Parts: sequence; structure tokens; C-alpha cells
Amino acid sequence: MNKITVVGAGNVGATCANVIATKDLAREVVLLDIKEGLAEGKALDIWQTSSISQFNTRVTGSTSDYSKTAGSGVVVITSGLPRKPGMSRDDLIKTNAGIVKEVTENIVKYSPDAIIIVVSNPLDVMTYVAYKVAKTSSNKVFGMAGILDTARYRAFLAEALNVSPNDISAMIMGGHGDTMVPLPRYTTVNGIPLLELIEKDVLDKIVERTAKGGGELVALMGTSAWYAPGAAAAQMVEAIVNDQKRVFPVCTMLNGEFGLNDIYLGAPVKLGKDGVEEIIEIDLNDEEKKLLKISSDAVASVMQVFDDMNLI
Ligand code: LAC
Repeated sequence: MNKITVVGAGNVGATCANVIATKDLAREVVLLDIKEGLAEGKALDIWQTSSISQFNTRVTGSTSDYSKTAGSGVVVITSGLPRKPGMSRDDLIKTNAGIVKEVTENIVKYSPDAIIIVVSNPLDVMTYVAYKVAKTSSNKVFGMAGILDTARYRAFLAEALNVSPNDISAMIMGGHGDTMVPLPRYTTVNGIPLLELIEKDVLDKIVERTAKGGGELVALMGTSAWYAPGAAAAQMVEAIVNDQKRVFPVCTMLNGEFGLNDIYLGAPVKLGKDGVEEIIEIDLNDEEKKLLKISSDAVASVMQVFDDMNLI
């Protein structure tokens, strides 16, 4: 791919740009931020690792000059405030909705065909905002949450079972918040059903810890996480630019799937050069359906806050 843009040169954006560059996923990565010099500085720092990490991707920075992003194939939006201790992701809506709106307007002005990956919180609603503003098809606008949430879940399971995290295959649905729905029935250890290997109380604790995984890090660091979120967004970029048809949980627009309509929510999808190429409608049992409904109701209530802002 010729050009990839990452908007927001904070911790998540810079980590994402760094992973994209180290994997040599494009000719150029443009990092953009509103804070004077920040994107240029971080881009220069990443670019200066090229001979050490052995990559060719040119990493450049820009302070608010969107013309530098023109012709991007993929754009990752990480802009917005991160959480502080005691805040939920939903508390960020008032500030971040306006930011994501403005960023998306600028992005589509210079890259009308770009695939847009949203990382800003509250994730599900911010993805919806980008979709509404971009006025493109929903397969080209989606959010990063499920890869991060499953990565946390897989890390916790790997510790508990003393196995490699690489051998854990897992699916999580729902919103990127405490109501997310890890699916132990769809979790295996290299094909062996997880439920044959783990005690119920251990699993329950891991499911709970996963759902609150972002908050655990905010409490430890005083701000939200970046290594796993940045790497997770970069993994989505990789699936797109290399047309890998990876099956990932992604925050995607649901139009009737799982009985849900006109809402962005985490679901299993196939990710390739056209973005979300398919939503995979797995069977859910009554309990899983109930949990998904609780999660979609939670996202819908944040969506209502956004609608009431009359921003679009
Ligand atoms: C987290 C933030 C990025 O879950 O939402 O760490």
C-alpha cells in the first residue's frame, strides 16, 4: 500500500504507527496531530529506528495539515482524550464526538476512498460518528476493540492454563465496555474446547477481568493503555493491506445480524482489502443472546447521548 495515515500522535497512535512501520505495511505512514510538532517528533523518532528494526516504511509527521494525508488507503483514528482513573469510556463522549467528527471530515476530504478504523472512545459510538460523517459504505468504517479485548482474554487464559497465548483462539462480542461478551463456548486451546480445560470459577474471574481490562490499566497508570491497543489496530491494518481475510471480532455496523439494527457493535467479521467483507453470524445460545442484548442496550444509551448533542 502506498500510504497509511494515523490520526492522533498520542501513545496509541504512535504505537500503532510504529507497529505498521516495523511490519513494512506501506510505502509511507503519516502521523498527524493537532499539537504543534508532536507528530513530526514522534514520526522522526520512529523513522530513526528503521535501520535498527530493518524496515523501509517512511514515517512522516504533520501538525494538522491534512493535505499530507491525501490518497491514504487506510486511516486509523486515535484522536480524543484518554480515560483518567474513575472515568468510564462513555464519560468521554462530549469531548471526543466533536473531535472524531472534525477528523473524519478532514480525512474524507483528502482520502475519499480510505478505509477508516476508529480507535477513539467510547469506541462503538465514535465509530458510528465516523460512519455518519464519512458518508461511505459501512464495510469501510469500523472500530478496533475486539482484537484488543480478545488479546487480553487470551493473555489471562494463557497465564491460567500455562500455555502459549498463540494457541488460544477466542471470540468476544458486544460493545467495548464492561458489558462486552466474551464467548467461552467459542474459545479453544488449539482446537480443544476451553470448557474442557478450565474450572468454572477461574473462567468466571477471567471473563470479569477481561471486561474490565481497560479499567485495570487506567487504575495502574493514570491513563489508558497503548501497547496492546496500538498493536491491535495495526493488526487490522495488516489484514486489510495484505488482503488476509482474517476472522476477527470487529466493531461493525449491524443491519439485522443477531437481530440488531442500525448499531455499531463487536461481532465476528472477515477482514480483507475491502474492509469488513462479511459478518459471520455465529449461533448464540439464550444466555449469550441475553448478554449481547444488555451490551447493545448499553451502547444504544450512549448513542442516545450522542444523538441528543445534535452534532450531525
Ligand atoms: C482500552 C482502551 C483503549 O481498552 O479502550 O485500553
